Amino acid sequence: MGFGRGKVILLGEHAVVHGVPAIAVGIERGATARAFPAKNDLLRIAPWGLALAPDPSNGEPLARAFAAALALYPERPALEVNAEVELPAGAGLGCSAAIGVAVLDAIDESLGIERSRMELGAAALAWEKVFHGNPSGIDNTISAVGGVGLYRKGLGLEPLHSNKTLHLVIGYSGVSSSTKEMVASVARQLEHDPTRVKKAFEGIEVLVRNAKLAIEAGDLVALGQLLDLNHSILTSLMLCTSRLDEMCQSARRAGALGAKMTGSGGGGCMFALAAKRDEALRLRGVLGESAFVAEVST
Ligand code: MEV
Repeated sequence: MGFGRGKVILLGEHAVVHGVPAIAVGIERGATARAFPAKNDLLRIAPWGLALAPDPSNGEPLARAFAAALALYPERPALEVNAEVELPAGAGLGCSAAIGVAVLDAIDESLGIERSRMELGAAALAWEKVFHGNPSGIDNTISAVGGVGLYRKGLGLEPLHSNKTLHLVIGYSGVSSSTKEMVASVARQLEHDPTRVKKAFEGIEVLVRNAKLAIEAGDLVALGQLLDLNHSILTSLMLCTSRLDEMCQSARRAGALGAKMTGSGGGGCMFALAAKRDEALRLRGVLGESAFVAEVST
């Protein structure tokens, strides 16, 4: 069975597209897939009732992404791939990357191809490019590898280790958004006001570097403060919605160590950092019915 994790970007989204490092974690929720020889190539995504042939010119990105994935295997039989997804789409939790990694992992398994999770993640960039145009590669990498890692475009993932488990509570604002559009909005801002946006990226880089030290030292209080600051910078780049901001404020009022929007913004998810498991369960109650707890150990 192929598996790709969902992800939460702790700090550094958007800036990572422009070369700044970012820190992300893989979560248990994700996508699974099975592949087997069939009469024709077909991708089924069960929860969405989709059955798609690979087609590089189809308006449905999944059909184009499936074509890009199959092109990575020049010699193979026709394959049917059946995927299951546990993540909301367009919510900043790396749904497309998780499906891509699960699909490639399942195809590898059915063809007897062995490669490391790092190599699998790198291969899934071809899938991600269909969805996001100019992805940094963080989503497909952490989806394949899991754990906590510092990612830099072109340099890959450096796994981070801590003596503390990260208790995250993930809340969905109920509104989906397009990563491609949000990334394009930051690129437009960078073009029109380079001084302001470069300052924002520099600020984010400082926060990411301090967050790496905080994670390695197990200093969750410092990490929480850095999350709050990163949230403010993302807000200044017009990526945060009022709903996401309200959710972050409620989590902080309820005792979260820090709270932040995550992923491309313009909707999607936020997360709160809790000191302990029981705190995380309590915060989940504050963040609405679809909120869930993710525990990440390194
Ligand atoms: C999306 O999950 C993260 C972004 O930084 C885009 C990317 O890194 O490709 C917004």
